[in-house]
Amino acid sequence: MSSVTVYPCTLSGKLSVPGDKSISQRVALLASLASGTSEISGYLDSEDAQSTLKAVKELGASYHLKSNGNLLITGVNGFFKPPNKPLNLGNSGTGSRLLAGLLAGSGINAEIIGDESLSRRPMNRIQDPLSKMGAKIKFKDQSCTLPMKIEGGGLKGITYHLPVPSAQVKSCVLFAGLFAKGETKVIESRPTRDHTEKLFQHFNIPIEVNGDQITINGDLLSTEVFACKDTDIPGDFSSAAFWITAAACSKESVVLINNVGLNPRRTALLNVLKRMGAKINIKNKISNSEPFGSIEVYGASLCGTVIEGDEIPNLIDELPVLAVAGALADGDTIIRNAEELRVKESDRIHEMVKSLRKFGVRVDEFEDGMKVYGKAELRTPSESISCNGDHRIAMSLAILNLFSDGSLKIDHVECVDTSYPTFWDDLTLLVRRRLENQPFQEQLLKS
Ligand code: S3P
Repeated sequence: MSSVTVYPCTLSGKLSVPGDKSISQRVALLASLASGTSEISGYLDSEDAQSTLKAVKELGASYHLKSNGNLLITGVNGFFKPPNKPLNLGNSGTGSRLLAGLLAGSGINAEIIGDESLSRRPMNRIQDPLSKMGAKIKFKDQSCTLPMKIEGGGLKGITYHLPVPSAQVKSCVLFAGLFAKGETKVIESRPTRDHTEKLFQHFNIPIEVNGDQITINGDLLSTEVFACKDTDIPGDFSSAAFWITAAACSKESVVLINNVGLNPRRTALLNVLKRMGAKINIKNKISNSEPFGSIEVYGASLCGTVIEGDEIPNLIDELPVLAVAGALADGDTIIRNAEELRVKESDRIHEMVKSLRKFGVRVDEFEDGMKVYGKAELRTPSESISCNGDHRIAMSLAILNLFSDGSLKIDHVECVDTSYPTFWDDLTLLVRRRLENQPFQEQLLKS
């Protein structure tokens, strides 16, 4: 079990962040099912993304890392093989839920297991639509958590109104729908990340997106499987979010992050920080199906804001670090309609409220969010702090302590490897750049 110590500091400099976790896992699933070999650049080298790769290998796909770092995935031409053992998706909600859809559709009997955190997370949200399509999804008890046994095949298309704004549930149904008879339609309650829809288009899988309705027709794929496709994966906006927020909150910071995914269903954090007063520029934007570009952030004095409604799903993973910005801003920051945060890798509402209070921040906890009272005088707790095995909580606490008054020991930070294994190196890089290369800020300001 490892821990790190974080010291107060201002960050400056430029960096690139590792590949997008959501896109990496979706590409792994699609390339594994396709015919032929797909070459993928920017595939995230993290535990979650590796869990998905290991699972598809168990199902007959193969992969190989080229010397230039690109990943080759050879697909099964539409036919997965039954696995010899339970598929262990580790900590990955995305991997487990999306794969469940594929397995249910393709008629492979399999069991999905995961680590302690994943084994606490709700799976009835995918059991419901998959059962309606005709799959048998079994749990050992009423808790509807992993381990989960899947018996699928012979599915029929359904129209499914998403009861929760979840891209994982939406994608699970769409993956199952690839094999279902007739039309599968998902209707969203709020817009969520649309990487699955974009990747279906990229792999030439017919899909219709009409406002909040997404439709695919499994009959179109019943005779011929789709072909492999080379794919470039941009940097993960959710990883960049830690540096964007840290820079936005400090008047002395300038940070430039290159090659970051700019899909509008992911970047609501930028709108919120701008509303709070941050100066953020997008540069060199390439408008591919998954847009990407550089994000330049100049620190400023921020003011509090209200974050709620349709904005929530498009910054769901950024809310812990946004709570940090709220503590530093002038005035109060209110987060509402974010009850989904309670069923992430940890109960992120509770974890952030608890941790902020340890730093002396006044916070009210709501069932669906929190109110953070701003301009807090942060005091680093003398005891080490736990992130409860949640990568985004660990990284948010590290950012929080940059603005505090002492050194903070964060325990069990190995969980950061699920999404951003190089986070601590990148933090060191931005600290060092700031200390060694003061003129960097001026250079950026002039450019
Ligand atoms: C993800 C969707 C979100 C997000 C998660 C990744 C995805 O979860 O929190 O980190 O890749 O589809 P929900 O769809 O359950 O909100």
